[in-house]
Amino acid sequence: MSMSLTELERALKSLRLSGMIATLEARALQVAHHEMDFVEAFACLVQDELDRRPSSLLERRFSQSGLPERKDLKDLDWGYNPRLPKRAMLELATLKFIEAREDALFIGPPGVGKSHCAKALAQLAVQRGYKVLYREAHQLIDEIHEARELGALRK
Ligand SMILES: Nc1ncnc2c1ncn2[C@@H]1O[C@H](COP(=O)(O)OP(=O)(O)OP(=O)(O)O)[C@@H](O)[C@H]1O
Ligand SMILES: [Mg+2]
Repeated sequence: MSMSLTELERALKSLRLSGMIATLEARALQVAHHEMDFVEAFACLVQDELDRRPSSLLERRFSQSGLPERKDLKDLDWGYNPRLPKRAMLELATLKFIEAREDALFIGPPGVGKSHCAKALAQLAVQRGYKVLYREAHQLIDEIHEARELGALRK
């Protein structure tokens, strides 16, 4: 039995081996040019899959969170708002409040960085493996109305 490259890609897709799909053609070329034997190429393909997995899981959690942009805590400009309670923010960055089932609420006038800080913490939580849901208040209210109409409010 033999499969074309396209059929093989389809089969790999159904097996959720996207890391292998990404490098399949290149690995096949290496074999064709006698750079590798079959076992070597297969080992590389398995490694390609493994290399891609954690990051694609991370990507998925990012896109499922609805975070509109990446805000890395490391890139936070601490001078942007000198009144930002740095100590409290850095303590929140331990994310212990999540395990403690506590809330964190950012209060202040417009443009001082409340959303920015929330996004940075949310991003950190995604990176640490938490399932995150990021919503602007108006969005959340729309979604609640929609869920009520669909009889799916609990969700
Ligand atoms: N510490 C910071 N470092 C770098 N950029 C920042 C920082 N704080 C805020 N910004 C940037 O300033 C802009 C306004 O910040 P942000 O949207 O977080 O304010 P906000 O407090 O949520 O305002 P609003 O009350 O209007 O929602 C954004 O583009 C944000 O990325
Ligand atoms: Mg905001």
